[in-house]
Amino acid sequence: MDLEKKEYINKIKSLAREKNAVIFAHYYTRPEIQEIADFIGDSLALAQQATRVQADILVMCGVHFMGETMKILCPDKKVLIPDMNAGCSLADSCKAEDLKQFIEDYKNSLPFREGSGVGPIVVSYVNTTAEVKALTDVVVTSSNAKKIVDQLPKDAKIIFGPDHNLGSYINSVTGRNMILWNGACHVHSRFSLEALLQLKAQNPGVEVLAHPECKTPILAQSDVIGSTKALLEHTIKSPAKRFIIATESGILFEMQRACPDKEFIPVPPEVTEGVGCSCNECEYMRMNTLEKVYNCLLHETPEIHVPKETAEKAISSIQRMLSMS
Ligand code: 13P
Ligand code: SF4
Repeated sequence: MDLEKKEYINKIKSLAREKNAVIFAHYYTRPEIQEIADFIGDSLALAQQATRVQADILVMCGVHFMGETMKILCPDKKVLIPDMNAGCSLADSCKAEDLKQFIEDYKNSLPFREGSGVGPIVVSYVNTTAEVKALTDVVVTSSNAKKIVDQLPKDAKIIFGPDHNLGSYINSVTGRNMILWNGACHVHSRFSLEALLQLKAQNPGVEVLAHPECKTPILAQSDVIGSTKALLEHTIKSPAKRFIIATESGILFEMQRACPDKEFIPVPPEVTEGVGCSCNECEYMRMNTLEKVYNCLLHETPEIHVPKETAEKAISSIQRMLSMS
């Protein structure tokens, strides 16, 4: 590690101590960010952990909706994110006003008798804005979506958004017929089926581990489907020495750190001429750098603010998730 990085790490650690700040990082962030974090986790674990720590400042190294979720859960704490531009293509694919219309259109499409009863239950993936969470009955993450949907009344009409791939997968494992919003993550929806089939042929018997945001044909070729944390735990528990991985490549750092004697083979994305990079990295997660973490702790900005009215509406859908998890 060069001196610059070491210097930043030391400065970040002493600033965090001085300001009683706790640093959180998602598994998709850069290795050096995961190294300085007090807590690394998937979106569920990060939200749960935020409610348990004693701190004045929470620094969320991930993407914007993760900071918002923390702020909603911990309104009295200062929540900082290193880069305000660290968004999420999936959260962006579902605007609150469009979801509101979608719910209305669905209600209006029901025959009078059905439509006049209790409205549909709106289930939203955590990768959504605070405004969308405010329209939601229960939030889910990839860790708990099946468990929570299983607890909903069997005859309930359910609207699920925004990730269509995750929603289809949950429909298939719960036997539900949820109405799905047509959103997707640009990283997970671009894994190449052809490349995966080739990797499987070259590595017979090697298990494929995939995140449920991947497209159905990729999931159909996978042996283990789960959240980043579930995939990581599988690699630790499994006696196997090699795995094919279909999720954002940041998780490979934690897998390799936990299992130094195992090999992880990433599935490459489809390459579209002139569009994006040919890697499976989330550029939003990569916006978290040591320099930005340092500056955000030093200047205590950018800070996440959620309007009171939105936060008050959104919190019940997040708390319902935490109690049903
Ligand atoms: P996890 O819930 O597995 O952390 O995933 C979050 C995410 O952004 C996946 O792209
Ligand atoms: Fe959003 Fe996809 Fe990045 Fe996850 S990997 S934060 S879903 S853009």
